[in-house]
Amino acid sequence: ISTLAIAVFTAALGSLQYGYSLGVINAPQKVENTDSKRKRLNTSLSSSSTYPGPGRGGSIPTRELEQSENGTDETGFSESRNHPEVVMYWSLSVAIFSIGGMVSSFLVGFVGDLRGRVKGMLMVNVLAVVAGLLMGLCRIWKPHIMVISGRAVMGFYCGLTSGLVPMYIGEIAPKAYRGALGTLHQLAIVIGILISQVIGLDFVLGNDAMWPLLLGLSGAPAILQSLLLPFCPESPRYLYILLGKEQEARKSLRRLKGAYDPTPDLEEMKREKDEADKEPRVSILSLIFSSVYRQQLFVALMMHLSQQLSGINAIFYYSTAIFAQAGVSQPVYATIGVGVINTVFTLVSVALVDKAGRRTLSLVGLGGMCCCAVAMTVGLKLQNDFSWMSYVSMSAIFLFVSFFEIGPGPIPWFIVAELFSQGPRPAAIALAGCCNWTSNFIIAMTFPYIQVWLDCYVFILFAVLLFVFTLFIYLRVPETKGKTFKEIAAVFQKKPGTPKDNAELQQLKTSTDA
Ligand code: GLC
Repeated sequence: ISTLAIAVFTAALGSLQYGYSLGVINAPQKVENTDSKRKRLNTSLSSSSTYPGPGRGGSIPTRELEQSENGTDETGFSESRNHPEVVMYWSLSVAIFSIGGMVSSFLVGFVGDLRGRVKGMLMVNVLAVVAGLLMGLCRIWKPHIMVISGRAVMGFYCGLTSGLVPMYIGEIAPKAYRGALGTLHQLAIVIGILISQVIGLDFVLGNDAMWPLLLGLSGAPAILQSLLLPFCPESPRYLYILLGKEQEARKSLRRLKGAYDPTPDLEEMKREKDEADKEPRVSILSLIFSSVYRQQLFVALMMHLSQQLSGINAIFYYSTAIFAQAGVSQPVYATIGVGVINTVFTLVSVALVDKAGRRTLSLVGLGGMCCCAVAMTVGLKLQNDFSWMSYVSMSAIFLFVSFFEIGPGPIPWFIVAELFSQGPRPAAIALAGCCNWTSNFIIAMTFPYIQVWLDCYVFILFAVLLFVFTLFIYLRVPETKGKTFKEIAAVFQKKPGTPKDNAELQQLKTSTDA
């Protein structure tokens, strides 16, 4: 059991790093200090086709811009705030992180299957360390190029880690705790975001002298993880189903679960292996085109879309401005408060997810977020008429984030590993990850425009989307809590499909039964 704890903790260090990298370009104090400046920037940037997006848009680059404004050009970003080059560097350093993630999330299956999940995580740490060094040491050469390359490599690393970690945890977790352990991925992400918010404060590392260290530290967890990974057992499912090494899988199961008889677990895997051996390898392309997995794939992608299109990252950005408008004198601390609530409610989800189930928590979470988005709109609309309305918007923000972390935040990350059996799992995680990164990127890029267009009604858009996703979960997502991978697959096979589906399934079943 303690080996299981070490293994999950070690894997989650990768998620911590992902969260830190997400949060570090969003260090809140700059959003606060540069609020009016940002508006000017928005105007000057709107004309550019590569507006970098809001939430993840920028402490570091903004700081560079501020320095430019003061005439200092120590960092090499450029001399003038409105200079097209500045705009370009700023946009690039923000966007390139997501682009790195979008590209690499496709490779998750390949990296995970190459030498196993543990060696996969170990290998990709090289990227994190290189990225950390590029950013941390950016002053030794051209800082803008160093930072932009560092962010690109880091994004590439994060795309891989955001798939490898849930895959490994999902495969080693005993089924009764699969939800709780799976949620630890998100818990580590939000802790990473919180840490970056706190050490990104002006008087810690978020200042002109220390920011390279702030960025460079994002590579630190990889070093600790690399030291611990050799003590982590390889996924028994990988060892047995993919490599056919039964003895090693048995050993790994004993290390993870203590002195017990692993025969029933191995038998379950054997059935999965027999099935997997009969099918050709499931590549990303064959997964897209196979009608057998269509239902699962649709659910997996919709879950990831619901996570990103809920508007959570827009909230992270918007909160400081709303707190400021509501008269909070130090909105940066209110924003850190949002980070704390974010972490606390992820812990609540860890405690609940294996009892209440994925479906219930997703429904409650998305439904609750939908109501909060409406409340936020009312608050924003009426806050000029009634000053107390600003408290409505503020409470709505806190509740919105709480509902997110109860279900829609953590569940999509691990449910993909649950929805698919060993054969298609890596390809499914790759596709879902790419969907997550892409939708995150689209929201970041388009939110400022939508905000200008819809003004105080901007969250109505998210309310509508949230309503649709709630309905979708209600109608189409089965409960996966406490079920074996095979039982989950069976739920989808029971769903009436097209005659072609049924024929295909029948064929699959006959071959398995034979
Ligand atoms: C999830 C999302 C990420 C978001 C975070 C907030 O991990 O994938 O985009 O920033 O939750 O807690």
